[in-house]
Amino acid sequence: MAEARPRRKRRKQSAPTVPTDNQHTSPLLLVNIRQLLTLQAGSVPRRGRELGELSIIEDGAVLCEAGKIVAVGRTRDALRDTWLKGQRKNLREIDCHGKVVLPGFVDSHTHPVFTAPRLVDFEKRTAGANYEEIAVAGGGIRSSVEDVRRASREELAQHVRGVLQEMSAQGTTTVEAKSGYGLSTEAELKSLMAVRLAAARWPGTVVATLLGAHVVPREHLRHPENYVRQICELMIPQVARQHLAEFVDVFCDRGAFSLEHAERVLKAALENGLGTRAHVCQLSSCALSRVLACRPASLDHLDYVGGEDIERLAQSPTVATLVPGANYFLGLAQYPPARRLIESGAAVALATDYNPGTSPTTSMPFILSLACTHLKMSPAESVSAATINGACALATPTTKGSVEPGKDADLAIFDVSDYREIAYWFGMNRCWGTVMGGEWRKNK
Ligand code: NIG
Ligand code: FE
Repeated sequence: MAEARPRRKRRKQSAPTVPTDNQHTSPLLLVNIRQLLTLQAGSVPRRGRELGELSIIEDGAVLCEAGKIVAVGRTRDALRDTWLKGQRKNLREIDCHGKVVLPGFVDSHTHPVFTAPRLVDFEKRTAGANYEEIAVAGGGIRSSVEDVRRASREELAQHVRGVLQEMSAQGTTTVEAKSGYGLSTEAELKSLMAVRLAAARWPGTVVATLLGAHVVPREHLRHPENYVRQICELMIPQVARQHLAEFVDVFCDRGAFSLEHAERVLKAALENGLGTRAHVCQLSSCALSRVLACRPASLDHLDYVGGEDIERLAQSPTVATLVPGANYFLGLAQYPPARRLIESGAAVALATDYNPGTSPTTSMPFILSLACTHLKMSPAESVSAATINGACALATPTTKGSVEPGKDADLAIFDVSDYREIAYWFGMNRCWGTVMGGEWRKNK
């Protein structure tokens, strides 16, 4: 087994991924893995043909200790290893009985801090109205704000906790969680505190993002400028000072924030030492060079990304995160140009975009299915996009996204015998269990 001698290392978390109260106990050995998808050499985003390379070990085994992966190899070698033989009494051994193991999914784009589904909007769409029309008529993002402002931090945390549990039951072990339904300094900070509270009780990793710039709240519609100033001068500095988020996001599109405003928000983030990311080209096209100048870790949606911008993205370290759950749920005919992005060399990631308006799903396997059926990505590409490239989108490529010694012990075990089944079965959950920060959890 490669690197079979566990080195005691303390679990390192890049701040402010939210700390958990996870306890690491005895080492954990997973054996009899029919396909172990290592995505080895995975600390850089996969581009072009490499996106489809999974570095599969058959009859694999993984040893985890102190929250880290310490060795990866074949079951037959692991069971012969003299050091491991000596340790067997102390080890917790999980027999995977020929299942598939892969790095836990990194869901790099979610909006979990809300209280209620938007069923009226949903029903209106079945009658023909579109997302923007519904927003203009008083639905959409702004209609989720009142409830969030009224809710206590604990109530919001309770919702987020449920979401995290549901995600990990489907193989997700790292989640980016945005605020964005408070739209005031007080309610955005409360939302991020709720994320922190929820994350503390979940063994996976949560990366928090401030999305105060989701839309302009009703009370500022006449003078959006005042709200942008509030975000830049109050919200971002307070979030940075209290270490409540690692990233600042902005929804730069028709009906949300202009390019000028988005640029100001992202620059304020950089000035306050925070990372940047943005929702772009979801509803309309937008020239990306000025957004790219703000060094975003990721640009997300990209349904209307133009040819030149595809080249710009391909030349940049910024990840292109596609969220086809939103296209599916809004019943759109158009999906983002995944193949052109991949073939140009852009680093493509996949995420759920879990939110009450456009993508109410916690299921990464369903997103992989959509990637194959609607984005024409191969099953292998969909796995890399949902693991190592998601990790790059969160600036955590050295700790997340592949199964290699030294990385965090975050794994998903699927009750299938071929990894392509993960994207093949849809609308059902084949996840058998997860390892998060070294902690084993079996699904019921
Ligand atoms: O990513 N586009 C902006 N934000 C979400 C939608 C949020 C909502 O409708 O509540 C998205 O699709
Ligand atoms: Fe989103």
